[in-house]
Amino acid sequence: MVTHDVIIVGAGLAGMRAALEVCGSLDTAIVSKVYPTRSHSGAAQGGVAASLANSSDDSWEIHMYDTVKGSDFLGDQDAIEMMVKDAPEAIIEMEHMGCIFSRTGDGKIAQRYFGGHSRPRACYAADRTGHALLHSLSEQVMRNASKIKIYSEWYILSLIVHDNICKGVVAYDIKNGRLEVLRGKAVIFATGGYGRAFRITSNAFASTGDGIVAAYRAGIPLEDMEFVQFHPTGLYEQGILISEAARGEGGYLINGKGERFMERYAKSMMELAPRDIVSRSEQTEINEGRGIDGKNFIYLDLRHLSREKIMERLPQVRQLGIDFIGIDCIEKPLPIQPTVHYSMGGIPTDRDGQVIINDKGTKVTGFYAAGECSCVSVHGANRLGTNSLLDALVFGRRAGQSVLESAKDFQLHDVNEDTEITSAKTEINTIFNASGNENMNNIRNGLKDIMMSECGIFRNREGLELCLNKIKGLQDRFKKAKITDRSKVFNTDLIESIELRHMLEYSEVIIVSALAREESRGSHARTDFSKRDDVKWLKHTLAYKGDDGEIELKYKPVAITRYQPEERKY
Ligand code: FUM
Repeated sequence: MVTHDVIIVGAGLAGMRAALEVCGSLDTAIVSKVYPTRSHSGAAQGGVAASLANSSDDSWEIHMYDTVKGSDFLGDQDAIEMMVKDAPEAIIEMEHMGCIFSRTGDGKIAQRYFGGHSRPRACYAADRTGHALLHSLSEQVMRNASKIKIYSEWYILSLIVHDNICKGVVAYDIKNGRLEVLRGKAVIFATGGYGRAFRITSNAFASTGDGIVAAYRAGIPLEDMEFVQFHPTGLYEQGILISEAARGEGGYLINGKGERFMERYAKSMMELAPRDIVSRSEQTEINEGRGIDGKNFIYLDLRHLSREKIMERLPQVRQLGIDFIGIDCIEKPLPIQPTVHYSMGGIPTDRDGQVIINDKGTKVTGFYAAGECSCVSVHGANRLGTNSLLDALVFGRRAGQSVLESAKDFQLHDVNEDTEITSAKTEINTIFNASGNENMNNIRNGLKDIMMSECGIFRNREGLELCLNKIKGLQDRFKKAKITDRSKVFNTDLIESIELRHMLEYSEVIIVSALAREESRGSHARTDFSKRDDVKWLKHTLAYKGDDGEIELKYKPVAITRYQPEERKY
């Protein structure tokens, strides 16, 4: 049995930042299904938020207010306050680790506007900020290679929790098909998001919710799963992210009539209103026949920004347009549509990243989560752009610090290796031994299409019920789906099937949580309950897996400290 003090699952920003915090004193392992620098944090483009000292009229208080308002007042304000106060230090720390931030003329870290932020506070490295941060952290992890053991291309299958004590994980070594129990005094999940269940998404292929499902099956609730963020500018039909930085630098959104339609929806912030509002506005234009040529897309027009500015600040945006749809945004507008980008919900944690399982704050001993797989909740019903890289850095570090502080009380717990391995093997064998003629790809496509059409930007009871029935049908079909590759070496057929099973499981949680929430708030827009309802719904959803496998919903209050809920106007 493999044993370490701390087992971190996931090697994106949150995971690597946590590892650097603990590795000086504790024997640390990172388990990642992809090579660390391929983690999805690297796809974040436009910036990481902080009210730096050089931005004269910004402050953590303004950053906090923008974030609370952006969250449609569902964010926990105690956690948001902590995040925005930690932000400047988190950025300077990354600068000292070697992150190549873009600079102002006088050498300071450059900052730009981003949606929902009332000040230019997105610190950026052109439009490759996530990439720059991820590689800086990766270099530091390599520098500490003697203290951090990396299990690269190991796939987590289950989380071992008994009597509210976390003891380790079971993982599958993709290169040889071996199952291993990794026992740890503490486990930190930093397994990222789960947007792959939707047809149009900016998420990497790996974003299939393996961590949240492992936690859910181990008896941990999932919080606020109904809140799925659409980013307003995905490349048409591809879903690939075209950074909000393009609008931060002055880009326009144009409909089929040539109008800057955001004037109708958010007169003061226009294209830089929060993502939920801009995405809904775009979809409304498209639904009402004002897409380009009446089709399912609109234009992002950057031509007026100039070649120089695009080449300096948005080189990746330009290249993505050229590579994926053959359009150079210096010369032509880019066809875009909203794309599933971020999941506000996840594993509930306290402000130190420790996992909590109910409204009383009961903790799971030795289990932590940080980054997109977690729900602290600093994003509430709608995240502001650039707050996710910040969340990952701040709460990755906090989770690490908290593990360090508690380490003296931790111990290794007995694990029945045979039982854990047998149960993981059974999970795998049900896929190998399935008899029937169903096809995994058809099931995956069915899931993506129905989630997109009925659980997307606009939702209603009828559509969500349809979606739920369809997903249950897909879950049944999955049991009869065969895979053809039966080998042990890099069996991607098997891994993709397990991922699909995860997607089918958490999608049901998204739908059930969305069906119950009879209001519209942030990214959750119900056409049959079109208003926010603070009297009934100013609360977080907690979805538990019941003993019979059915989902049980409970709720917990929102932490409101400084800002009382008010109508959101932009
Ligand atoms: O648009 C973007 O560059 C994405 C940033 C984010 O999601 O924070």
